[in-house]
Amino acid sequence: MTSTSTTTSGTRSNHMREISQRALQALPAAEWAAIEPVVAEIEQLKRDRNAVVLAHNYMTPDIFHTVADVGGDSLALAQAGARTDANVIVMAGVHFMAETAKILSPDRTVLIPDLRAGCSLASSITATDIKLLRDKHPGVPVVTYVNTTADVKAASDICCTSANVVAVVESLGVPRVLLLPDRYLAANVAEQTDVEIIAWEPGACEVHERFTGAQMRELRAIHGADLAIVAHPECPTDVTAEADFVGSTSAMGNWIGANPKRRIALITECSMADNLAADHPDTTWVRSCNLCPHMKRITLMGIRDALAHERHAVEVDAAVISGARRALDAMLAVGRRENVPSRGAV
Ligand code: 13P
Ligand code: SF4
Repeated sequence: MTSTSTTTSGTRSNHMREISQRALQALPAAEWAAIEPVVAEIEQLKRDRNAVVLAHNYMTPDIFHTVADVGGDSLALAQAGARTDANVIVMAGVHFMAETAKILSPDRTVLIPDLRAGCSLASSITATDIKLLRDKHPGVPVVTYVNTTADVKAASDICCTSANVVAVVESLGVPRVLLLPDRYLAANVAEQTDVEIIAWEPGACEVHERFTGAQMRELRAIHGADLAIVAHPECPTDVTAEADFVGSTSAMGNWIGANPKRRIALITECSMADNLAADHPDTTWVRSCNLCPHMKRITLMGIRDALAHERHAVEVDAAVISGARRALDAMLAVGRRENVPSRGAV
């Protein structure tokens, strides 16, 4: 063995040691022992293919705390997708996130481990709907949440995420905007700005729309003043009205870091609390979460197979890319309007 290969294998075992330390803060030792071989396989495949794994905050801890090179909210993943110099991006998230990475890095191969990982918001609206809305509201700019298909982005003026939606809406300097497709996000934004918000009634997140204000009041009655309710803005307004903090997935994590509470009800997808629990061992998590069936389609084995067989590559039509890129670049120019670091960097 040459000294270079000794150094390389030493670097690799240091890297696996770091992953192991992180994993053991988030997973039972027996679970880590069971998944360590597949994690090592994925790390080798990442080196072989010059690949990065971008993981949304809703990924399970066996992904989020092991193979993820970047972990964060939709905006962090879009920003990472725009600046990576890796040849291959594996999106451990849902399809619109992979499409966003492809639009921002069209020369890279973008893989999604399971093509069925969709989103109820993305499937609620089409580019034809946008055209009809523009006809109905002439001259009113269209702001679309990134939880949309590439076609819908291309038909829009500017995109937004939950981390910058109010700033994006106000950046346009107009009295009214169409804010699509999440009617609950639109209702929450309408409470924070003087800009008139026109919403799209069919759009809702199937995970967040199930929370109710009555559930929040019940949680308070059970747990008392000790409890902090932290909610995502895709929740109905009677839920967010009861919350101590409302923000993007990364902003919720940041707020919890800055406001240590013994009891937290994280009103969002279930893996979010599982991922944060590693960093907040003294917090009691009041489990009142809902699972996203689309996010849960992404597994470690799926990531391994995507890298091993270069499947499933996400393609976006060149004509659509240029329109969608314009809307995404306009959003990226506004940037994040919350002070939230993501984990990792590319
Ligand atoms: P964030 O952009 O806040 O991570 O939200 C994405 C999402 O899909 C929430 O349901
Ligand atoms: Fe879509 Fe809701 Fe799942 Fe997020 S949690 S991916 S908005 S269905």
